[in-house]
Amino acid sequence: MLEDRRILLIVAGGIAAYKTLDLIRRLRERGARVRCVMTAAARQFVTPLSLSALSGDKVYDDLFSLTDEAEMGHIQLSRDADLLVVAPATANVLARMAHGLADDLATTVLLATDAPVLVAPAMNVRMWDHPATRANMALLRDRGVAVVGPDDGDMACGEYGPGRMAEPRAILAAIAAHPGKAGAAAGPGGPLSGVRALVTSGPTHEAIDPVRYIANHSSGKQGHAIAAALARLGAAVTLVTGPVRLDDPAGVGVVPVDSARAMLDACRAALPADVAICAAAVADWRAADSAPQKLKKAPGQETLTLALTRNPDILATLSEPGPDRPRLVVGFAAETERLMEHARDKRARKGCDWIVANDVGAATGTFGGDRNTVHLITEDGVEPWPPMDKTAVAERLAARVAATLSGGTA
Ligand code: C5P
Repeated sequence: MLEDRRILLIVAGGIAAYKTLDLIRRLRERGARVRCVMTAAARQFVTPLSLSALSGDKVYDDLFSLTDEAEMGHIQLSRDADLLVVAPATANVLARMAHGLADDLATTVLLATDAPVLVAPAMNVRMWDHPATRANMALLRDRGVAVVGPDDGDMACGEYGPGRMAEPRAILAAIAAHPGKAGAAAGPGGPLSGVRALVTSGPTHEAIDPVRYIANHSSGKQGHAIAAALARLGAAVTLVTGPVRLDDPAGVGVVPVDSARAMLDACRAALPADVAICAAAVADWRAADSAPQKLKKAPGQETLTLALTRNPDILATLSEPGPDRPRLVVGFAAETERLMEHARDKRARKGCDWIVANDVGAATGTFGGDRNTVHLITEDGVEPWPPMDKTAVAERLAARVAATLSGGTA
C-alpha cells in the first residue's frame, strides 16, 4: 500500500516528535520514500541526525539555505511529495497553516504545495480545547486537510485529556488510506479506471491584434481540481486549458490552448470520452477580424469600435446528440443574479446532463478564490451543496460522476 509513496514529513516542536522517529521507520519498512522538514523548535526534541539516519535522506530546516535552494528549491521540495504529513502538528504550526503564514521552511512548504496535507495534532489539552485552536482546525478541515488524532490520555505536562499525538500505527494507517496527490490509493484500480474524461478549464484569450486580447478573470482552479480528482479515481483525463498560472495536475494529459476555437478543436480531438466537464470560462465573443499588425492610434482619434463575432459554444457542441456524445456532459453556470432560474434554463438550452451552478457575484470571491458554493442541477432537480473548498467540490463531483457512470445513466 505504501510502496513508492513520497511522503514529506514535517516535524514541529512538540514532545511527541520522538514518536515520529518510529513513524519514519515504519513508513520506510513499507516501501515509502520519506523526506523530512523540521522547524527550529523541533530541534529541541529530536536531532536532524536521527531524522536523516532513519529517513535515509537529507533533512531540510532552513528557508534561506543557498545550498538547499541550489540542490532543490523549497517549491520543488513541496511538490515532489504526494502527501505532506505534519507530525507532531503543534498548536502553533496549525495556527500558522490556518492563517497562511510562511515564516519558516515548514510553513512555506505547506503554503506552496499542490499535494494534500495530513496533520497529527499534539498539544496540551487546554491548548487543543482553546477556541483559537478549534477555529483553526475547523478552517483547516474545511480546506480539505486530513486529521488523525489526537488521542485522549496522560500528557507529558501532567494533565489528562485529548491532545496526545496519535500513535505511529494510526498515523501510518491514515497515510495508507489517504489517496495522496496522484491518487496513490485509488489510481489505476479506482472507480473510474477505464473511463475517459475530458475537462475544460481556465479563461480563453481572444486576439484583437498580435499584442492585445479579450480575456476574463477565471483562474482555472476549479477545472484543474476536477481534472485532478477524476484522475485520482483512476480516469484517463485530458485537460484542455486556456492560459492559467497553475501547475499541470498530476497524472493528467494537458492540452494548452488560447482561443475558444482552439479549445473546441482540442476537445474534438480528445473524443471519444465517457464524460466531459466544461469548467472553462470561454469568451462568448472574439474580434471579428483579428488585426495582423498592432493597432495604431491615428492622430486625434478618440474612439475605436471593435466588431465582435460569436465564439462556438463548446459545451453545447459536445452535448449535441451523436455517436461521439459523451455519456455524461456537465457544464458550469457562473451567475451573478437569479442563479437557479438561469442555471435551469442553461441546462435545457445547452443540452447537457448536469449543470454546476455557482454565484460569482463580486461579494462571493469565487473568481480566483479557493472556495465555491454550488448547486448541482440534474434531471432530478436541484441539490444545494454546502460552501466548500474548490478541491472538495471537485472531489464530490468526481465521486458523483463515478457513481453515475457505474450506474449506467446520467
Ligand atoms: O453560456 P455560459 O457562458 O454562461 O455557459 C457556461 C457553461 O458553458 C460553462 O460550462 C462553460 O464552460 C460553457 N461554455 C462553453 N463554450 C462557450 C461558452 C460557455 O463551453 N463558448
